[in-house]
Amino acid sequence: MVLTIVGSGYVGTALARQLQLQRQAVPLVLTTTSELRLRELNPLADRVQICDATNPDHLRKALHNSSVAVFTLGPKGNRQGDVDLYRSTFEECFHCLSSVIAELPALHHIIYTSSCSVYGHASDAWVNEDTPARPRTARGEVLLESERLVMQLMEENRKVCVLRLAALYGPGREIKDRLRGLAGKQLPGDGGSFSNWVHVEDAAGAALAAINGCWTGLVNVVNDEPLRDRDLVDRTLIQQGLERVRWTGAPAPAPPFSRCISNHRLKDLGYRLQHPTLFS
Ligand SMILES: NC(=O)c1ccc[n+]([C@@H]2O[C@H](COP(=O)([O-])OP(=O)(O)OC[C@H]3O[C@@H](n4cnc5c(N)ncnc54)[C@H](OP(=O)(O)O)[C@@H]3O)[C@@H](O)[C@H]2O)c1
Repeated sequence: MVLTIVGSGYVGTALARQLQLQRQAVPLVLTTTSELRLRELNPLADRVQICDATNPDHLRKALHNSSVAVFTLGPKGNRQGDVDLYRSTFEECFHCLSSVIAELPALHHIIYTSSCSVYGHASDAWVNEDTPARPRTARGEVLLESERLVMQLMEENRKVCVLRLAALYGPGREIKDRLRGLAGKQLPGDGGSFSNWVHVEDAAGAALAAINGCWTGLVNVVNDEPLRDRDLVDRTLIQQGLERVRWTGAPAPAPPFSRCISNHRLKDLGYRLQHPTLFS
């Protein structure tokens, strides 16, 4: 058995580190699109493969003899908002996988890290994996279509699991660093929308548990505590001794986007969060 992680970014490399700690006997292949990253990734894997997952030859080679493939792809560069880039990364990758899957008979488990953004707005209500996904953005639509494409590959001898990750934080992406610039500022609205978060160690930990437990279907990967924006911002600023934000109460410029995402299924599957809340 070979395990391949396609897309070795924040989540992919965190997963590779956890696999190393677990001293798994299974050979690990990591992919990157960039020659420049080979040296950085080499110590984490048995093999590092150059792979643009939208290229059938690359993907076939990267997944040759793999029994498990974890897709932790993200759009490249800093144009995170570009919907065409989302489409050409996620949808094209799974169209490509679909085109080569018949040549990958060893592949029996596919895991894809999607996003809770597929849920859209739910007026503060709790949502779970049975709640119909109604993305509010074009990027969310692309992610939902990508889930559909990868789920289509499920067969009797090939399981597919989609992990819907909440907003990620952790080393290098600390919330305090991201929110510091808001200190003392005036913001529109009342900060009442809920956001949902997960530590990168739990995103990777859930992916590892999905591999070990051969999970199938949808699983939300989110911590225990949805937080209203005003609580998140204030608590983060106060912890750093900074001035809090003043919410003007005026209508916010963006349409509302608020929901509390349930992690009951994650827990029912036996996963124990390492970071149950943001401030723990
Ligand atoms: N970040 C978040 O807050 C968040 C929240 C919810 C869900 N997620 C989900 O988790 C995924 C992973 O997030 P992340 O933060 O780990 O992303 P990331 O750090 O940006 O890493 C994504 C990796 O994908 C690789 N990649 C990009 N285009 C590719 C292509 N065409 N073929 C093969 N590999 C390609 C890149 O590899 P190279 O640069 O090495 O070429 C990059 O390292 C997201 O895309 C999303 O689905 C993330």
